[in-house]
Amino acid sequence: MSDALKNELLSQVEAAADLAALEEVRVTALGKKGRITGLMKELGGLSPDERRERGQALNVLKDEIASAIDARKAELARAHLEARLEAERIDVTLPVRPEAEGRIHPISQTIDEMVAIFAEMGFTVAEGPDVEDDFHNFTALNFPPGHPARDMHDTFYLPDAPSENGADKKMLLRTHTSPVQVRTMLNKKPPIRIIAPGRTYRSDYDMTHTPMFHQIEGLVIDEATNMGHLKGCLIEFCRAFFDVDDLPLRFRPSFFPFTEPSAEVDIGCSRKGGELKLGNHGDWLEILGCGMVHPNVLEACGIDSTRYQGFAFGMGIERVAMLKYGIPDLRTFFEADLRWLKHYGFVPLDVPSMAQGLTR
Ligand code: DAH
Repeated sequence: MSDALKNELLSQVEAAADLAALEEVRVTALGKKGRITGLMKELGGLSPDERRERGQALNVLKDEIASAIDARKAELARAHLEARLEAERIDVTLPVRPEAEGRIHPISQTIDEMVAIFAEMGFTVAEGPDVEDDFHNFTALNFPPGHPARDMHDTFYLPDAPSENGADKKMLLRTHTSPVQVRTMLNKKPPIRIIAPGRTYRSDYDMTHTPMFHQIEGLVIDEATNMGHLKGCLIEFCRAFFDVDDLPLRFRPSFFPFTEPSAEVDIGCSRKGGELKLGNHGDWLEILGCGMVHPNVLEACGIDSTRYQGFAFGMGIERVAMLKYGIPDLRTFFEADLRWLKHYGFVPLDVPSMAQGLTR
């Protein structure tokens, strides 16, 4: 009887196809109401000799079944793991993940590069609104009312809104980032060291002009900053930005109402064979305006011009982006053509930094 039971139970163990089935076999054999347990309970009704003999046999059977279950359990676990490993096999020749589809627009990339360079020099980023008033865009920057330099800006004016103090409250789309100088000086005490990248607007449209474009403004105000610092800062910047170590810069006297003296800056280039190349090649290309902040501007912003001085500069972002990345037509920047963006754009995770490189 014991052998028949043993063979039956062992074949049930062997037949269990998974852990759940095996557990069921265990319960039927060894559980509280299991068959072996049941036989154990019957021992009480036997004579002492019979009880000992049968008890020993049942214990042996119980151990045999328990170890058969353990062995089967290990076998099932191994088979399960093998099946998983088989199913989860990976093809290591596949690309890590699909290449990101999106691209960073060259303007955003250029701004990030500029910010990375100026941040290294201790500048912080300042912002101002695109919709400005006449005071911040012109008057405080030493453009007196009726000054001809105002007309050169092809300003977009907003429809008149009722206001208390007349002309200065006339609203417009800022024609340059210079009003951020005014906002910064009105809100912060020197020392000041900021850059302000952002959108600017002028009513103009051709190969080299779009009604919306971008500039970056720089402003440094303290008690000692002079024209030498201005030159050093811009030379450092241009060499880092264009990645040409010996790039020559030429400071040409110029005029802006908000700086005195004022200069325009050219970088060295060559145009031989119709191809533009940056470097020490004898030819020049204008890229930015700069100067020492005019005392009238400091005073209009509540800064004592007998104690404080400093420099400012302004640069067109599209222009230098076109130069650096060989983009021939300004208007294509804003046509939102995905083919153009795929070609001239930048992969999102390559964040420009001075330590890791501006472009990789
Ligand atoms: N705001 C000037 C423009 O749009 C550029 C400029 C020139 C800015 C000289 C400056 C500067 O800060 O000092 O043409």
